[in-house]
Amino acid sequence: MSLDQAQINRDLASALSAIASAVNLDAMKQIKIDFVGDKSPLAKANQLLASIDQSQRAEFGKLIGSARAQINQAFEKKSVELSEVRDTEVLLTERVDVTLPGRRTLKGGLHPLTILTNEINDLFIGLGYKVAEGPELESAWLNFDALNIPADHPARTMQDTFFVEPLDANLVLRTHTSPVQIRTMLDEKPPIYVICPGKTYRSDELDATHTPVFHQVEGLVVDENITMADLKGTLDFFAKSIFGENVKTRLRPSFFPFTEPSAEVDVFFNGRWIEWGGCGMVNEKVLIGCGIDTKKFSGFAFGMGLERTLMVKHGINDMHDIVEGDVRFTQSFGVGNK
Ligand code: DAH
Repeated sequence: MSLDQAQINRDLASALSAIASAVNLDAMKQIKIDFVGDKSPLAKANQLLASIDQSQRAEFGKLIGSARAQINQAFEKKSVELSEVRDTEVLLTERVDVTLPGRRTLKGGLHPLTILTNEINDLFIGLGYKVAEGPELESAWLNFDALNIPADHPARTMQDTFFVEPLDANLVLRTHTSPVQIRTMLDEKPPIYVICPGKTYRSDELDATHTPVFHQVEGLVVDENITMADLKGTLDFFAKSIFGENVKTRLRPSFFPFTEPSAEVDVFFNGRWIEWGGCGMVNEKVLIGCGIDTKKFSGFAFGMGLERTLMVKHGINDMHDIVEGDVRFTQSFGVGNK
């Protein structure tokens, strides 16, 4: 192998012309491999210096050295130019318009039913009540028998109640919050003042006024000298706190197996009487079943649906709105607004 001056000049010329015509930094990477790196023709020529005649070495050394220096210099200069071009492009394409309005994100919030439950809890806690809770999977005994609901009561059919397999375990999805009354009376001695909010289940189809999963709130008081007047006064206070100062309540005779006497409580709201819930004096049989001395103590109880309360209070016509979780509904309650 020998070195050839003309070849060195050609290598230099083609390197410089490749550098001159490079359009971007990617092209420069290939140029670096082809004309600058260890495998470039001039790097190889440089390696040959050691093998040529001593007399020619200095001359070729200078020639190759100067060619490589020119290439390096041109390469550096072009790299700087192309980096600047790239930076300008990036600045343009990734430009941020700081004057654009910010993107709005919705805030999470509590469901109106949860807000109502909290409101009711606070209200009764303010009256000295405790909040009591029970399981949603309840024994049929607590859900029915202990509440004096007999075995042949229509509510106990499969049509109304979700029985849970195996059927001989006698478990149901509680059909009301009233079993929490029994649990409380079995656990605690009077005086008892509790409010029991919670989820309840009945095998209804979801439609404008029904939902198979709904919520109730139960109230129970057992103390000395408790009368229907206490019940009426408590419901009046409750109704006014929920629906407003001007609301009136009335009790209508009714029947529930666990209260005697029993009543429906109606509220006069927006110009008409609306049925709100059930109530009454706790049936002696129920008190005795829970080991309470009925000579000394008496009690009242009430129970109402929370979906219904919300619908009445806010004029909601369709149950779907409450259960479907559409933010357009909850937003009207101030939930999720910025
Ligand atoms: N548990 C009844 C129901 O689900 C509501 C009810 C009525 C509860 C009267 C009571 C009561 O505590 O005294 O329909």
